[in-house]
Amino acid sequence: MTTPPLHVAIIGAGPSGFYAAAALLKQSDVPVRIDLFDRLPSPYGLVRSGVAPDHQSIKRIERAFERTATKPGVRFFGNVSLGRDVSVDDLRAHYHAIIYTVGSEGFRKIGVPGQQSGQVRSATEFVFWYNGHPQYCARNFNLDNVRRIAVVGVGNVALDVARILVRDRDELARTDISPIALAALRAAPIEEVIVMGRRGPAEAAFSPKELKELMALSEVDITVSTEDAHTDAVSAAWLKDAPKTAAQNAALVSTLAAHPSTGAPRRIRLEFRTSPVEFHLDEAEHLTGMTAGRNRLEIENGSPRPVATGETWREDVQLVLTAIGYRGIPIDGVPFDARRGTIPNIEGRVTETPGGPIRPGEYTAGWIKRGPSGLIGSNRPDAKETVAHLLADCTTPDHRKDILPRLLTRGVRVVTFGDWKRLDAEELRRGEAAGRVREKFITIQEMLDFLET
Ligand SMILES: Cc1cc2nc3c(=O)[nH]c(=O)nc-3n(C[C@H](O)[C@H](O)[C@H](O)COP(=O)(O)OP(=O)(O)OC[C@H]3O[C@@H](n4cnc5c(N)ncnc54)[C@H](O)[C@@H]3O)c2cc1C
Ligand SMILES: NC(=O)c1ccc[n+]([C@@H]2O[C@H](COP(=O)([O-])OP(=O)(O)OC[C@H]3O[C@@H](n4cnc5c(N)ncnc54)[C@H](OP(=O)(O)O)[C@@H]3O)[C@@H](O)[C@H]2O)c1
Repeated sequence: MTTPPLHVAIIGAGPSGFYAAAALLKQSDVPVRIDLFDRLPSPYGLVRSGVAPDHQSIKRIERAFERTATKPGVRFFGNVSLGRDVSVDDLRAHYHAIIYTVGSEGFRKIGVPGQQSGQVRSATEFVFWYNGHPQYCARNFNLDNVRRIAVVGVGNVALDVARILVRDRDELARTDISPIALAALRAAPIEEVIVMGRRGPAEAAFSPKELKELMALSEVDITVSTEDAHTDAVSAAWLKDAPKTAAQNAALVSTLAAHPSTGAPRRIRLEFRTSPVEFHLDEAEHLTGMTAGRNRLEIENGSPRPVATGETWREDVQLVLTAIGYRGIPIDGVPFDARRGTIPNIEGRVTETPGGPIRPGEYTAGWIKRGPSGLIGSNRPDAKETVAHLLADCTTPDHRKDILPRLLTRGVRVVTFGDWKRLDAEELRRGEAAGRVREKFITIQEMLDFLET
């Protein structure tokens, strides 16, 4: 009698889910069968719904993921959500191992008075909205009277958002940006986006490459005051042992200070050592402006941290987008570290609590394992580490029943990879007809209806 294959459920078909599947397939010691679940009918996670629409070349990685999805022994179970359509107990009964790769789709709160306003929103929502994420397309961003916007945070997400807000609308129209977002941006009288970093240019989290891209935009001025561009003594001392990119960022920002404004119709203004202090609201909690405050830097535990100086000023903004990082969302039945916003684990082996006992057969990879940072490729070594532990732990597999009949009996409409390829072909067809890269389906119902045709 042949040994049954190891049945592995991977929950979340983003980069870490695909890298985990690829690592399982690469070894030949244990035969494996992989079911790759996603709550959306579409795969690829943030590559589809996070990566900016004007960064199409990055999305080419989807082709490598497609090759993994179509390998023998791999099935895609789209439109199946852990916690809604399937429980951890179901998975434990049907699989020898589970790998949670659900990403970090929540957002951090800024904790500033007035943050409850409908015009103080997270960049997480804004990004999902312009990328046509089906669960965010209805979260309206009314940009009709928005002339000035503050983006809080100076990471790559902040730069993505700032770029999309000011980029030429006809250039955006050729991408796969959501038509709803494109129409709102076309109608918006945006003149200025202020990108606010609480520390100095050297401590900015963005990549020099992304800042250079912003600097190269046509018909957009990018400015910074000499005071804000200055690298102070605290940063200068810290830079001696800092990553190379920190000095590159500081140098790039200082070249910007010398740039005169060209009077372009839209501008991005970088502000450093600046934090929001209060968002001002009227009785209807409508944003009427904000108070910003100046910081100085102090070294704490070896790195510069911002300390308010008490100097404040008012900024006339109609929208605030906080781009201050993502956060994992807890799932029923799955351990969660509420402090870090991740699934507690030791090198990918899930633990009951942070530092607590290991949960046999449960693993995690990607952003939900280590926190929301790193590029697509960083998830590959991370997933490999998890899979190495999974394989080291596995004993001779017993026979497990297929979960699919159970899902179908429950009335779950499982979207297969073949179904996804039909949706993909239709999106590309609609895009081509409209002179665009792709025209995404932006509701799940629309996708499921199309699959019935
Ligand atoms: C706005 C933005 C832009 C970025 N741009 C770039 C870039 O240009 N280049 C680059 O290299 N990196 C970029 N990154 C980083 C990159 O996207 C991440 O490193 C990567 O996507 C993390 O992969 P992941 O698989 O851990 O999570 P995700 O990509 O978030 O995938 C998680 C998947 O899990 C699914 N899921 C969630 N909950 C459930 C559930 N309960 N049941 C079933 N499925 C579930 C989700 O639908 C999703 O498909 C960007 C990140 C962001 C936020
Ligand atoms: N094009 C790309 O390659 C691309 C695009 C998007 C995202 N990504 C990647 O995805 C990951 C996530 O990006 P991200 O931009 O969300 O996160 P990030 O790189 O961690 O940046 C978060 C920013 O928010 C600031 N911040 C945090 N809390 C704050 C607060 N309370 N008040 C003010 N500012 C605050 C941080 O400042 P401090 O440093 O002072 O904490 C930092 O500037 C990163 O690894 C990024 O490189 C890549």
